[in-house]
This record gives sequence, C-alpha cells and structure tokens, in this order.
Amino acid sequence: MQELSLNVLDIVQNSIRAGASLITISIQERTADHFMEISISDNGCGMSEEQVASVMDPFFTTRTTRKVGLGVPLFRMSAEGTGGTFSIRSKLGEGTTTTATYVTNHLDMLPLGDMNATMISLISVNPQLDFVYHHQVDDREFQLDTRELRAVLEDVPLSTPDVLLFIKEMIAENTAQLYGKS
Ligand SMILES: Nc1ncnc2c1ncn2[C@@H]1O[C@H](COP(=O)(O)OP(=O)(O)OP(=O)(O)O)[C@@H](O)[C@H]1O
Ligand SMILES: [Mg+2]
Repeated sequence: MQELSLNVLDIVQNSIRAGASLITISIQERTADHFMEISISDNGCGMSEEQVASVMDPFFTTRTTRKVGLGVPLFRMSAEGTGGTFSIRSKLGEGTTTTATYVTNHLDMLPLGDMNATMISLISVNPQLDFVYHHQVDDREFQLDTRELRAVLEDVPLSTPDVLLFIKEMIAENTAQLYGKS
C-alpha cells in the first residue's frame, strides 16, 4: 500500500463489517517531533482478548471467503516500519480502537495520501453511517461530524452529489489551513 489513507480505508471497512454506526478517524501530527498518530474508533461488535491477540497474526480472519486477512497486518507494518507503534483496544459488544503512530522522518514513512478521497468514498458508499473526521497539525485542528451535517440537512441524504461536493471542499479548505497554506 503506497498511501496511509488507503490503509485507513481498509481499517474502516473492518469497523463497517463489525456493524458500527459511528466511526471516528483521528489524525494528529506534531511536526517538530516528527510524530503522527492515526486512530480509528468504532462502536461495532468488538473483539475478545483472544481475538485481538490473533488479529495481529495475518493468518487469522473470521472471513469465510478468504483465509488471510491483511488489513491489520499491513497497517501495523506501515507504522512499525518507521519505528512507530501499533495497538488495538477492543471490548466485545462495545467497539474497537486501532491506533498507529509514526516516526515521520523515517526513510520508510509512507505519505498520508488523500484522506479527503478516503472520507468522501466512505460517506458516499455508507450514507447511513456516521463519521467523525478529526485532523490536528500542531496547534491547528478541525473536525467534521456527519451527525452535525445530518441535523442541518434534515432529510437530504449525505450521499447527495451536492452534499458530497460540499464536504469535499470543506475538508480541502480546512486541510490547507492546517498546513498553513491559506
Ligand atoms: N474494528 C473491528 N471490529 C471487530 N473485529 C475486527 C475489527 N477489525 C478487525 N477485526 C477482526 O480482525 C480480523 C482481521 O482483520 P484484517 O483487516 O486484518 O483482515 P480481514 O478484514 O479479515 O481481511 P482483509 O482486510 O484482508 O479484507 C477481521 O476478520 C475481524 O474478525
Ligand atoms: Mg480488513
């Protein structure tokens, strides 16, 4: 995987498959420390301790169509390959939080990639689910919460093209501000 935003897409698919109705994607960057953290939290079915332990093993998966699950191992490698860390906290019936941290100036650091595209595809394919997208770079941050949008939109689905375009522009503008580009 060339971009971390694609790993995120993959990890969020796990949350969706776990029956989550709310998924929070949070990115925190501390530039002076060459630090980045990506965390994905869901309120899905969760996992037992044994399941969490075995999920770290690429030969474990509850899928029946395929024997090897690669989403978690690839995300883990992307982080640990930079000297960062990886963890999964989960509770049956409550949900799961998957967290990866990165040493961003390491040679094997992958680009974050297009998180905007990741969010737009998640929302357009799953307009019935709620997403919180939080991105912080040093002392600047912004957050998108589809629950707030939904309240304003009333009966208009989040997957409506105009709404998606609005969200896309909002993420683009705010992301540019995070990096001091406007
Ligand atoms: N957020 C989650 N909630 C509940 N179970 C999860 C979650 N994330 C992962 N799992 C469990 O861990 C297993 C392994 O996940 P992983 O993403 O590595 O592989 P996969 O989803 O089975 O296959 P792939 O990602 O390659 O399509 C999943 O099959 C699922 O049982
Ligand atoms: Mg997966």
